Amino acid sequence: MPLNIAIDGPAGAGKSTIAKMVAKKKNLIYVDTGAMYRAVALYILRKGVDPADIEAVSKTSKEADITIGYEDGVQIVYLNGENVNAFLRTEEVGNVASKTSANPAVREHLLYLQKQLAASNDCIMDGRDIGTVVLPNAKPKVYLTASSEVRAKRRFDELVAKGEEPDFDKIKADIEQRDYQDMHREIAPLRQAEDATLVDSSYMTIEEVVQVICDLCE
Ligand code: DC
Repeated sequence: MPLNIAIDGPAGAGKSTIAKMVAKKKNLIYVDTGAMYRAVALYILRKGVDPADIEAVSKTSKEADITIGYEDGVQIVYLNGENVNAFLRTEEVGNVASKTSANPAVREHLLYLQKQLAASNDCIMDGRDIGTVVLPNAKPKVYLTASSEVRAKRRFDELVAKGEEPDFDKIKADIEQRDYQDMHREIAPLRQAEDATLVDSSYMTIEEVVQVICDLCE
């Protein structure tokens, strides 16, 4: 049985930063499931489909063939054969992904790919439903969170460092809206699995969180 570690939590909790570091330390592959949902959202955006139109999203998402590869340990997401990594991390794509990921057809499509990856690789996988739905037998499971204030501040600082002039209140409102959508959808909502360890990173350093997760693996 491959080693499968699950990390779930709300947007901006630091899941991907932490998971990448644990992956390196433990020699695992890092599977970023949010990037898969973002790739579908990118396709929906490119096709000009309304993310709230359930039927159109179901139909259009079936045309989006998502596959994953690795280059120097970095996950590459291919959308119909095109490497789309450079287009995935915008606020727009994230907000659309939060809406389109509530669609059952989109989830079914990606669930299979995620289960397959975990069945054949030692991995750390992050997302919203990894410990509850995708990998119910993962060990350890971590629910990583932080207050919306702290998460918004981290995002704000990232954008300032890139030379942008972000609006803090808008970032915080977006984060809270995504939390609400991700936690209240019918299928596979974001919630802490019963056997997951809660880690609130609001007042922890990245290294401290990585250490907690590595300790849970022992
Ligand atoms: O983690 P992220 O911000 O890249 O994820 C983008 C969106 O994808 C998120 O708002 C909800 C959705 N998502 C999901 O529904 N299930 C997952 N396992 C991962 C992400």
